[in-house]
Amino acid sequence: MSLISVRDLTVEYHTDSGVYRAVEDLNFDLEQCETLGLVGESGCGKTTAMLALMRLLPEVGRIVSGAVLLDDSDLMRIPLPEMRQKRWGDISMVFQGAMNALNPVRTVGSQIREAIDLHTAVPRDQIDKEIEKLLDYVGVAPSYKDRYPHQFSGGMRQRSMIAMALACKPKILIADEPTTALDVMVQAQIMDLLDELKAEFNLGIIVVTHDLGVVAEYCDHVLVMYGGRMVEYGDADQIFNKSVHPYTQRLMLAFPDIENPNAELASIPGHPPPLDDLPPGCRFEPRCGVGGQRCSRETPDIYTVEPGHLCSCLLAKPKGSAADE
Ligand SMILES: Nc1ncnc2c1ncn2[C@@H]1O[C@H](COP(=O)(O)OP(=O)(O)OP(=O)(O)O)[C@@H](O)[C@H]1O
Ligand SMILES: [Mg+2]
Repeated sequence: MSLISVRDLTVEYHTDSGVYRAVEDLNFDLEQCETLGLVGESGCGKTTAMLALMRLLPEVGRIVSGAVLLDDSDLMRIPLPEMRQKRWGDISMVFQGAMNALNPVRTVGSQIREAIDLHTAVPRDQIDKEIEKLLDYVGVAPSYKDRYPHQFSGGMRQRSMIAMALACKPKILIADEPTTALDVMVQAQIMDLLDELKAEFNLGIIVVTHDLGVVAEYCDHVLVMYGGRMVEYGDADQIFNKSVHPYTQRLMLAFPDIENPNAELASIPGHPPPLDDLPPGCRFEPRCGVGGQRCSRETPDIYTVEPGHLCSCLLAKPKGSAADE
């Protein structure tokens, strides 16, 4: 059984200017000791999907349908007090940009203390030890607990955020853009740290990232999103070497290749569709240029390319399938 199974998750934002569907029919599973990379251009719904899993959407966000199965519970349906226990305790998150949101006038230790205080039953007289242990896990000298965020490097601040997310010993850790705004060396150190923690605590990790280099090196599986939907899912080899969806292929071409650094990069022309003006049929069709006329009319199903490799594109539709006849 999977550690967590996401089934048909659909999320809307109900704003003054209208109702927008930011995530639609998202499905995936995550196993223990697995790192899943969630990729796609800005605005495709990555953070929204992760906040929905935590039931931490902003006020205007609504989970319209879907299930998130963890152990024997559906996180989308359990009463809020029960969800509060699962949140941080079973499923935890390092938020996008959080390392820059540390309170500048409080020591890092006191901010970790708050996480422990709020979310665990660690007795008061043992909290100091616990803070030191957590900092040690993430590679920050325990004595740094009495220092302020401005005395920390970017990498140390991100490590501290990871320490907070681990305070309740979760089974699943979501890291939303954990390496953005860090220099390349530090990015690798943070990813190495997540990798070590995964092995040490048998974590399942979801990494949201724009960095396909990170995905190639650290992720077992990759889920590519576009316009709120999953367009392709597979293991790293299937996505990097055998991708079928034109969007995935374009994403790869837009990213520098370490083995071929002089290759010309081809950015994807145009922009993702605005949520209030989604094209009929395939959402990538206006930028695709590969598919046929049917793509602008027909919403592709999710097709199995080979076992474990899924693609939502008419090009991946098996030849001679019933709908073709
Ligand atoms: N609080 C909100 N109210 C209304 N719309 C929102 C809200 N938060 C996000 N959205 C919209 O939902 C869509 C998905 O946003 P989301 O932040 O999930 O994307 P993302 O893939 O995480 O992007 P990025 O890579 O820039 O972090 C976007 O169109 C965004 O404008
Ligand atoms: Mg985001």
